[in-house]
Amino acid sequence: MNKNWKTKLIHTDAKIPDGYRSLATPTYRGSTTLFRSASAVHDTWDQWRVGYTYGLYGTPTVLELAARVCELESGTRTILTPGGQAAISLINFALLQSGDHILVPASVYYPNRKFATRLLSRFGVATDFYDPFIGAGISSLIRENTRLIWCESPGSITMEIQDLPAIVAAGHARNVHVVLDNTWSAGVLLDAFAHGVDVTMQAITKYIGGHSDLLLGSVTVRDDALYQRLGAAQQVIGCAVSPDDCSLALRGMKTLGVRLSAIETSALAIAKWLSARPEIERVLHPALPACPGHEFWKRDFLGSSGVFSIVFKPGPTQDQVHAFVDALKLFQVGYSWGGVASLAVAYNFGRIPGRPPYDHRIVRLNIGLEATDDLIHDLEQALGKLSA
Ligand SMILES: Cc1ncc(COP(=O)(O)O)c(C=O)c1O
Repeated sequence: MNKNWKTKLIHTDAKIPDGYRSLATPTYRGSTTLFRSASAVHDTWDQWRVGYTYGLYGTPTVLELAARVCELESGTRTILTPGGQAAISLINFALLQSGDHILVPASVYYPNRKFATRLLSRFGVATDFYDPFIGAGISSLIRENTRLIWCESPGSITMEIQDLPAIVAAGHARNVHVVLDNTWSAGVLLDAFAHGVDVTMQAITKYIGGHSDLLLGSVTVRDDALYQRLGAAQQVIGCAVSPDDCSLALRGMKTLGVRLSAIETSALAIAKWLSARPEIERVLHPALPACPGHEFWKRDFLGSSGVFSIVFKPGPTQDQVHAFVDALKLFQVGYSWGGVASLAVAYNFGRIPGRPPYDHRIVRLNIGLEATDDLIHDLEQALGKLSA
């Protein structure tokens, strides 16, 4: 067929050599997925079962990242979402309906709490927030209509480590699914499924991404029945992820092992140094005995990552704590942790129910890949500003 140049722009006869091989996963972008024939067209979301149907359900780049997260977490299937918070909302939308009840730890990532109080409440789902150390005692909070028990270990900022097996046993005894936000462990430092959890999620944004340049989340499930419910919900919610972001995350994943090891060593050294400082009441690092629930970390986890908090002794005002953070030269002020740059954020839990009474005296640190001694010197000079 003789083609006009405008047609050639869309339907080319140009050829390139075959046989290219590379260490990198190609970035397959695409909304439209082509079918072989008219009769092969179908809109089924489960591409593992029927082959590729639509970009919303993932191109090969997206499915490769999903498969690799699933492999690392030893799950059955993983679904990717546009961020960690989207993973939280997908789980709730997929597994809950009006009239249900859920249990959420008081130490949970704050937007997870907000999702329950501001959105699920409007859809007729009731939430009780529980003491993260409740353990087997959670049985007494389970109702006839309880469908999910959320866990997050360690808890956000206050770093409580939960007795997961006890919560799982209590939940399963009453047919309640247990969901874990496993972001702190990057999905590799805690084998959630070996501890009986049914669904995990993590913000890939943090350690797997690893370079503070993308937002992605994952939901990984223990069995196919859960996967079917989550996949069907993802289809109608329409939360697609960018293959470009997945490509960055696949690159980040290759160095996760060395980054996590270096961060673990540095964070522990800094946490121990901070523990000996006279200004500090306690260092909330899961691998140190002063962290509430440390015994569960020792029993269940394979290591520690680089996020922990410090609590100052009573004395400094909120302004003085802010002056400490502002005096830091290497630690920058920013929320999203897990990258290569160290961060510090001051919090005030005065009005959040169920949080320990640290008020304005708590600062969360994210340890990056700078030299440990430089970070310690930075903290030392900034501590001098605390009483100024
Ligand atoms: C424990 C935890 N879960 C979930 C999220 C949400 O992840 P994202 O920022 O990718 O939405 C965060 C982000 O800070 C987090 O710290």
